[in-house]
Amino acid sequence: MNSILIIDDDDQLRNSFKKLLAEEGYKVESAASGEAGLNIVKNESLDLVILDIRLPGMNGIETFKKIHGIEPKLPVIIMTAYGTTETAIETTKLGAFDYILKPFDIPDMLELIRLALNASRFMRSPVGIDTIPEEFSRDAIVGRSTEMQEIYKAIGRVSPTDASVLIRGESGTGKELVARAIYQHSLRAEKPFLVINCVAIPETLLESELFGYEKGAFTGATHRRVGKIEQAHEGTVFLDEIGDMPINLQAKILRLLQEKSIERLGGREKIGTDVRIIAATNRDLEEAISAGRFREDLYCRLKVVTIWLPPLRERQSDIPVLADYFLSRFSAEKGISNPGITGEAKAIFSKHPWPGNVRELANTIQKALIFNRGAPLSSEEIAQVKNEKSHTVDSTDDNGDALLRQWLRKELATRSGENLFDSCMDSIASLMISEALNICEGNRSRAAKLLGLSRPTMHSKIEKYRLKFETLVKEDN
Ligand SMILES: Nc1ncnc2c1ncn2[C@@H]1O[C@H](COP(=O)(O)OP(=O)(O)OP(=O)(O)O)[C@@H](O)[C@H]1O
Ligand SMILES: [Mg+2]
Repeated sequence: MNSILIIDDDDQLRNSFKKLLAEEGYKVESAASGEAGLNIVKNESLDLVILDIRLPGMNGIETFKKIHGIEPKLPVIIMTAYGTTETAIETTKLGAFDYILKPFDIPDMLELIRLALNASRFMRSPVGIDTIPEEFSRDAIVGRSTEMQEIYKAIGRVSPTDASVLIRGESGTGKELVARAIYQHSLRAEKPFLVINCVAIPETLLESELFGYEKGAFTGATHRRVGKIEQAHEGTVFLDEIGDMPINLQAKILRLLQEKSIERLGGREKIGTDVRIIAATNRDLEEAISAGRFREDLYCRLKVVTIWLPPLRERQSDIPVLADYFLSRFSAEKGISNPGITGEAKAIFSKHPWPGNVRELANTIQKALIFNRGAPLSSEEIAQVKNEKSHTVDSTDDNGDALLRQWLRKELATRSGENLFDSCMDSIASLMISEALNICEGNRSRAAKLLGLSRPTMHSKIEKYRLKFETLVKEDN
């Protein structure tokens, strides 16, 4: 369970915040002053601090500096009211994760918390290389094939240099894991690691997210904002899915690599920035260059150190090893004993082409374990999980699709108005969540994993749709 410390002298805010975050499934500590907060930072293991900038006694910025000195990788979100925004901006320059203006909307705050916790996990949870961790809760790069041995050597060679690295390979081959391993073994391991997913953020936002902006740079830019690259000064920036980065931003990244400086949007000043770039993509960059979607000069600059992750089907000997690893890991996460796997099922695994690579293998085992009752995973169980997928697709195409359309037509015929779309989407989302909860016997964490949602998002959706399950109390941690 993630543990969050709130430092704010406002009793009411602290208490309501505490309640809200506890409902979201977080463990919450609180302190009314910087001094008390620091004590908790020294003595407890925390994943995130939310800090008010205006505090009696030791002020927020001093408190931040001390926390950052003790635990440089502990993310800190600064809360600020109008009038103290400049200080909050300064604090982000010193390494605070981000700041949020008071009063804030709860969903915005929860989203920021989710992002910060994710960043924290990336920086602080070590990726094991070719060593299966004993407690299975950690990420590890598993595989003994000669292809993977080459990857481990490459990680070892490039990590301690400051060279930019380009990681390529099909979806699900482990590019993100490799990026984290390089960072963790680099000379910058004690400095920040910031992840930017170039497809997940809309183009206009991506630019301000990366480079920041000056007050008045565009309508709505009421304050200066420090971008992620500037914030990662002396650290590492992971540009995930770089093949999808808009072309005008590619020019700016190239300039950063050549001149080691950036300019904020609407700013004239060049800001010297020392960051190491690690980039990843599953796109065919050569084809993107011919199509004019990717700059050749950036490609040439990035490709000097390229790590190619081979698809799983080209390193068949890793499949049984990975299958054993995921079985142990997911059983441990579920708190059950590892049922093992029959030889026949392993043989089926080894022959499967795994177009979704390691991610698909992990998902298959995770789903098979949901229905398993303790006997070794059999080929029938595997077939069931695999068929179920195609079965669901088929039934959606014929039957399910027809039923859904019928219902939608009825809604469209009998209702109209502004939120018809949202309310239909809500009905579907609510059904999906309640089905997932049914499959997972009311266990929210497992249902969240099944749906690919974070636990806090799952919790807020259960609240939103007021889903009631007698078994909802059965949490797994
Ligand atoms: N060699 C490996 N050992 C153990 N787990 C792995 C390995 N490779 C990948 N995984 C796991 O598979 C999943 C997908 O890996 P990852 O997110 O790194 O893939 P990716 O190459 O970044 O995919 P995409 O292109 O879709 O973003 C993750 O859960 C990761 O932990
Ligand atoms: Mg990825």
